[in-house]
Amino acid sequence: MEVERVQAIASLSLSSDSIPSDFIRPEKEQPALTTFRGPVPEIPTIDLSDPNEGNRVSLVAKASRDWGMFQVVNHGIPSEVISKLQRVGKEFFQLPQEEKEVYAKPPDSKSMEGYGTRLQKDTEGKKSWVDHLFHRIWPPSRINYQFWPNNPPSYREGNEEYAKYLREVADKLFRDLSLGLGLEGHALKEALGGDEVEYMLKINYYPPCPRPDLALGLVAHTDLSSITILVPNEVPGLQVLKDDHWIDAKHIPNALIIHIGDQIEIATNGKYKSVLHRTTVDKEKTRMSWPVFLEPPPELVVGPLPQLVGPQDPPKYKAKKFKDYSYCKLNKLPQ
Ligand code: SIN
Ligand code: FE2
Repeated sequence: MEVERVQAIASLSLSSDSIPSDFIRPEKEQPALTTFRGPVPEIPTIDLSDPNEGNRVSLVAKASRDWGMFQVVNHGIPSEVISKLQRVGKEFFQLPQEEKEVYAKPPDSKSMEGYGTRLQKDTEGKKSWVDHLFHRIWPPSRINYQFWPNNPPSYREGNEEYAKYLREVADKLFRDLSLGLGLEGHALKEALGGDEVEYMLKINYYPPCPRPDLALGLVAHTDLSSITILVPNEVPGLQVLKDDHWIDAKHIPNALIIHIGDQIEIATNGKYKSVLHRTTVDKEKTRMSWPVFLEPPPELVVGPLPQLVGPQDPPKYKAKKFKDYSYCKLNKLPQ
């Protein structure tokens, strides 16, 4: 069966001011009615090259407790490396539809990898205004190059360079998050996969939408991952729920956006919070984002760290293999 891509629906709707009813969210989710317009606190921005380690660690820990989200600047990834990642990803989505379909996720595949559009409607019976491409970028033993576009020809180089720099940022975040709870620096990374941590890249492609007041890019969710490290393009759209208000993330050129995911919340027994977020879309511009989900290997059992539980602090989460956790979450089964 031919799958209908949002990019194709969007190009048909270009001169229209309506969208198919499948995309119209219920009022309680419509961005025009639910985005907070009052004075808002700003999502914390942290300088990752701050030589005062104690200061940096406490900012990372505070943001992860209070928000589950922050932006980082001076993270060490050269801006050319980020622009190249963005350029090659954008060029892929600009290819003719049939060339993109070569990378489509095979219908019977259990992995997320490949080009696609979410097929099942969500709990509200609605669709999201976004297409995507998923493929792992690290470790080498877990990369399936069949899902890496051959076109543009520099796609592979652009993604490999980014992965190389990203690993250092990831290690630094795992370390600061561990130190921030009084743990040894390697504790969280080790508990969540060590050198087998899997880097799953997703490209989100949100085409222009005639009714950005009614549709959503992605409906409210927390990430399955341990940590998500995200590069956005310049079109705003990411929103975070803070004190019951949906607030916009400010675009900071060259910053990376960090989400605390479910596995860190579980490993820290809830001390760090997995952040609830969603995305809105733009009337004229294409929004894109490149989140990398740092995930435990599928067979690894993740549960609250023994150092973080005790008589005063009983475990709040079940220990579970990561693959079972993701299966339940993706199929909306109880954990
Ligand atoms: C996501 O939640 O996967 C993407 C967020 C974004 O596009 O900024
Ligand atoms: Fe997300």
